[in-house]
Amino acid sequence: MVVVDINGNAAKSVVAELESAGHEAIAVQTDVSSETDVKAMIEKTEAHFGRIDILHNNAAVLSIEQRQRDRDICNLDMDAWDRAIAVNLRGAVLCSKYAIPVMLKHGKGSVIYATSGLGAQGDLSLTGYACSKAALNMLPKSVAAQYGKSGIRANAVQIGLAPSENAHGSMPSELLDILRDNHLTPELGTPRQIADVVAFLASDESSFVTGTTIVADGGFGSHTPSLVAMREFFAKSGREGM
Ligand SMILES: NC(=O)c1ccc[n+]([C@@H]2O[C@H](COP(=O)([O-])OP(=O)(O)OC[C@H]3O[C@@H](n4cnc5c(N)ncnc54)[C@H](O)[C@@H]3O)[C@@H](O)[C@H]2O)c1
Repeated sequence: MVVVDINGNAAKSVVAELESAGHEAIAVQTDVSSETDVKAMIEKTEAHFGRIDILHNNAAVLSIEQRQRDRDICNLDMDAWDRAIAVNLRGAVLCSKYAIPVMLKHGKGSVIYATSGLGAQGDLSLTGYACSKAALNMLPKSVAAQYGKSGIRANAVQIGLAPSENAHGSMPSELLDILRDNHLTPELGTPRQIADVVAFLASDESSFVTGTTIVADGGFGSHTPSLVAMREFFAKSGREGM
């Protein structure tokens, strides 16, 4: 496995975890928005492993500084817009552009894109992030149509809120309650639950799934906008809900 991140130390620490679990892995520090970096990373991957079976396009620019500048359209910092598109969308395009030719040599491959509910539903801020993620619903359709007959599958995972445990602490509990109320599952998601869907798409168990988006969001995007208010209304009035 090749662990790719702009943060070389973060990539190395994931590699250390993988190695301690008995897997072979290398870290390659890469800015996925840079064509030079991505080309070199794919060359290094092919030189080391001889093939590429799975490409998981998971990188996104989500720093606090980026989020504070990627705002509603009237207050949008255009540098933040450019960075969101460059990393989240151009990065995924570049990795696909250079990984797919290596996959084609063996006539098989699975390409997975990490998208978000924010790429499908309007929200108050993160305009650049949302538009970059919306495009990642289209990209797997293009890849599947262009290379499906040559053995390449491509899909997106539309992720709801699946914060790591340490991210919970940085979010106000009132906010977490609002989000939890809007899930159709008892709890918010976890990175592990998202990883399980990615593992399915990476594996041959999903060999007939291509050109689509799997929504893994605990039903956050599946219900009527009034559901939470209606649930509270029925609870207050002592009447049975639907
Ligand atoms: N966690 C969630 O609740 C959630 C919800 C919806 C979608 N997602 C999506 O899932 C994916 C992973 O999210 P996460 O919560 O683990 O985020 P994260 O910030 O923990 O991970 C993103 C990684 O991308 C790396 N990165 C940033 N810019 C890069 C660049 N130019 N080149 C290479 N790497 C770069 C960062 O260093 C970081 O390690 C993202 O695509 C995100 O949009 C996550």
